[in-house]
Amino acid sequence: MKKITWKLMKMLPYRRPLVRCLGKTIVPGLAALFILALALPGGPSDPVDPAKLPPPADQKGLTYEKDIRPIFEQSCLKCHGPEKQKGKLRLDSLAAALKGGDVGKVIEKGNSAKSVLVHFVARLNEDDAMPPKNGGKPLTKDQVGLIRAWIDQGAK
Ligand code: HEC
Repeated sequence: MKKITWKLMKMLPYRRPLVRCLGKTIVPGLAALFILALALPGGPSDPVDPAKLPPPADQKGLTYEKDIRPIFEQSCLKCHGPEKQKGKLRLDSLAAALKGGDVGKVIEKGNSAKSVLVHFVARLNEDDAMPPKNGGKPLTKDQVGLIRAWIDQGAK
């Protein structure tokens, strides 16, 4: 089979330019696919099924100072506070929390289902779970629900 193809190739008048031309499209094409394959899976921007997140709490009038900071203080600030800023993220003030970290914004005001911080504390994926394994007690479903409701209400 190989020999036959080779013979056919030899018969083509512009064999070499043809091969070169194929090389020019196939090689960069494969390279692009390879880069895509590397870039697409993994990473915190992975699609998350919002149906798997704990539901937002019913509580109204939630604020960072009154309702959310205490949760962060208990579970997050030792790594995201004045001493350490893992992932360049601080959660010890509302402004810092809204600013985000290495991956950019982690809170999408008004949309908790799309907020990376919510995905992480809901632990849908143990590799992107906060606090990390052995880094403290996971948040309860009620705490995640409270954070969700706070973000849905505009993260004030
Ligand atoms: C024991 C340390 C530790 C604790 C406690 C902790 N984190 Fe983290 N956090 C990390 C580390 C380390 C990273 C960086 C991970 C990486 O870059 O791969 C990170 C990254 C993050 C990020 C992504 C930031 C970015 O832009 O890259 C978010 C969001 C986050 N943490 C939220 C939280 C929340 C919310 C809590 C508390 C419920 C928490 N973390 C508790 C260690 C911690």
